[in-house]
Amino acid sequence: MSRLSDYVTYREYHDQTFILDTRQHLSFRIEAPVAKLLDLFREDTTAEAALERLAARHPAVPRQVLADDVAAAASFLADNRLLAGETYEGSPREAHTNTRYFQRYTIREKLLYAALLEVTYRCPERCVHCYLEPAALSERYAADRERELTTEEICGLLDQLAALNVMDVTFTGGEPFVRSDMFDILAHAHSKGLAIQIFSNGILLEDPNLQRLAGLRLLCFHSSLYSHIPEKHDQITGVKGSFDKTVHVLRTLSEQGVYVNFKFVLMEQNKEDFPGVIELARRIGASVQLISSVSPSARGACAITELGVRSDEDLMGAIKQWNEISTFSSGPFSLDDPICEAGQNSLSIDPYGTVTPCNAFRYEVGNVRRRSIAAIWNGSRRLKKWRAMTKRDLKDCQGCLYRARCCFCPGVAQKLSGDMLQKYGEACRQARLQCALEGRAVPAGYSLENTKETL
Ligand SMILES: C[S@@+](CC[C@H](N)C(=O)[O-])C[C@H]1O[C@@H](n2cnc3c(N)ncnc32)[C@H](O)[C@@H]1O
Ligand code: SF4
Ligand code: SF4
Repeated sequence: MSRLSDYVTYREYHDQTFILDTRQHLSFRIEAPVAKLLDLFREDTTAEAALERLAARHPAVPRQVLADDVAAAASFLADNRLLAGETYEGSPREAHTNTRYFQRYTIREKLLYAALLEVTYRCPERCVHCYLEPAALSERYAADRERELTTEEICGLLDQLAALNVMDVTFTGGEPFVRSDMFDILAHAHSKGLAIQIFSNGILLEDPNLQRLAGLRLLCFHSSLYSHIPEKHDQITGVKGSFDKTVHVLRTLSEQGVYVNFKFVLMEQNKEDFPGVIELARRIGASVQLISSVSPSARGACAITELGVRSDEDLMGAIKQWNEISTFSSGPFSLDDPICEAGQNSLSIDPYGTVTPCNAFRYEVGNVRRRSIAAIWNGSRRLKKWRAMTKRDLKDCQGCLYRARCCFCPGVAQKLSGDMLQKYGEACRQARLQCALEGRAVPAGYSLENTKETL
């Protein structure tokens, strides 16, 4: 029989196996540790040969039991079109249901599931809202190029992440493709069975590179589109022609079966353009993600937050449009939930090796040049302290009726007030409007003291 498709990756977490098929964009959960069984199908094999290999490993197990396991695995793979050579027609579907389960499960068990790698801060665009402040800091980022993690260091890091059972690796920047070794890095991630996501504006990618990307089992390629009107998008990025280039890349990747996501950062400047971007995404076969506020810059400059939409009406209008097309939902949260998901099942690594819970929450928990990721994940005192905090620890939030829907970000709080637990106005506004959209102050099924959800 044929071997497993290159688009399939899987990880065993305790007594469960999570499987992702990035071509069909489907996820599966098997309530048994079957990774070793699936390993048998990584090469072309026959059911008999697979059984022989399994029997050699488990001499004490009756042969009929092993034969039944092999047959069940083979038919599961065939029935779900997880074998190489399967053709797949139609637009990719979203895999949110099970991946949300994977998220919740790994958060609860404190298992490292996802990592975000900022591979450089250099970028050819100059987006007005960018938290990296490219207009002001590009010379510093260019000078810091020598300090960026080398190809070998990043590949070594990917080896460590794969050994720790990480499923999902996101590469971002700056612009990841300013690095001439980016394809070597991606090929290495692919060879380690990691599911790859990329945040990129795409403008440095030529057509032959797009074909290479399509072969890398990408889970998703994300690009920001700030308007459906080329001149308006280009005004925001500061690069003439960037709209045409980005849209060409997104369309080509989507045609080649890659799952593509548009990010739309809502600002005063582009607040009328969300419906146009949604329509463009629909034509390309992409999903859309709304980023409804502009965060302060990484070094704490807050002026860019004023680029965000001012009126509640505009903000609500955009959230409503997004709610209509998205299956994404956050909350309701319980007071015993972590403040946010950062660092619970994920970590972020900056271009110079600094590890933080999230790239928006610059709370240093180690550096990969000094300690292994495993040592940081399991041993960092600062990370343990952060993980022990819950929504109860937020300051000045007692009695708040909106907190079941509050997406408080400790990174934003840290930059606005210097205190990562201090409530801030934009979190309150977003939570209040989300509740208002649901037509209630307290979301259904939520009681203030006890809303722990079972998985
Ligand atoms: C920093 S960029 C890096 C990857 C790539 N250069 C790109 O633009 O997609 C990652 C994402 O962050 C978004 N972003 C940048 N600055 C932001 C800010 N201040 N607030 C919210 N989102 C921001 C960008 O629009 C983009 O979608
Ligand atoms: S393309 Fe991305 S990294 Fe570059 S300036 Fe724009 S948001 Fe920032
Ligand atoms: S909405 Fe405001 S007051 Fe309520 S939990 Fe969030 S930050 Fe605190």
